[in-house]
Amino acid sequence: HIYFKVIVSQQFTSTYSTGHIGYALVPMIARGAMLGPDQPVIINMLDIEPAAEALKGLKMELTDAAFPLLRGVVATTNVIEACKNVDIAVMLGGFPRKEGTERKDVISKNVLIYKAQASALEQHAAPNCKVLVVANPANTNALILKEFAPSIPEENITCLTRLDHNRALGQISEMLGVQVNDVKNVIIWGNHSSTQFPDVNHATVDTGNGLKHVRELVANDHWLSTEFITTMQQRGAAIIKARKQSSALSAASSACDHIRDWVIGTPKGTWVSMGVYSDGSYGIQPGLIYSFPVTCEKGEWSIVQGLNIDEFSRAKMDATAKELIEEKSLAYSCLN
Ligand code: LMR
Repeated sequence: HIYFKVIVSQQFTSTYSTGHIGYALVPMIARGAMLGPDQPVIINMLDIEPAAEALKGLKMELTDAAFPLLRGVVATTNVIEACKNVDIAVMLGGFPRKEGTERKDVISKNVLIYKAQASALEQHAAPNCKVLVVANPANTNALILKEFAPSIPEENITCLTRLDHNRALGQISEMLGVQVNDVKNVIIWGNHSSTQFPDVNHATVDTGNGLKHVRELVANDHWLSTEFITTMQQRGAAIIKARKQSSALSAASSACDHIRDWVIGTPKGTWVSMGVYSDGSYGIQPGLIYSFPVTCEKGEWSIVQGLNIDEFSRAKMDATAKELIEEKSLAYSCLN
């Protein structure tokens, strides 16, 4: 690629969203955090009409920041213009969840948004465009997008659970007092929601003296099976409570991680979590967008196979699948 063209949809302004994810994400992309330090980029920013002026202001800021890798910026409220020839699509736009609302409340609003964006991407994006859906309910929004963009290969449509994956690394590193970078191979199974199952059964820490299993190192095993899981499941809500806005910089940063590893590859011996189209691996119903452990190579992800699943994990993996099946049918009922 001479340059990568990235669309970032919505959530740039405080007036029309609670997220600010786009405002945090765009400079990260322009600095090379998403596609590498030598990869020039063009960024197309899409927002809704009432945000058009603010979007112009952001474009001015991008000019003012003089990012060496940034080869062009399009600021538009026209979805077709925004989707033209994009290689990467980061879908932040959605009806936002506020303190006290459940994710399910926003499904009906979001299915319509995702149906429209799917058509625009299908018709105007580059043929092998990679799509990352961030807006909640992320898994189900991605599924809707997939349904309405049948010519985009299903493996190209993913949703963000890297935020949860990174949160798990953060929790373990704090608990053990080790560098976050030395913690590897946590897994987020299922939905990016309060039913997700953060699994540390296969996670390791590089002690400097060889790899050790997280379960061996955490003295309080009970914590791993209880508080750790609930903290993870409620982390998004805790941030909304504290900030009165959902997470933004951590979401933006993990969106960069997601795309970077997908495009450039995961380091040898490590996996990451991505919401991907289920092929039935680990007994998860095909046709859901479900978070699995994946490795990536040459722009393609594959689900890590053959991991041992104990009874406790099985029940949690099935519970989050069940929620996704319910979300899927709710989304379809909104479409009819
Ligand atoms: C997060 O995990 O921070 C967000 O997805 C929370 C939310 O529901 O907006």
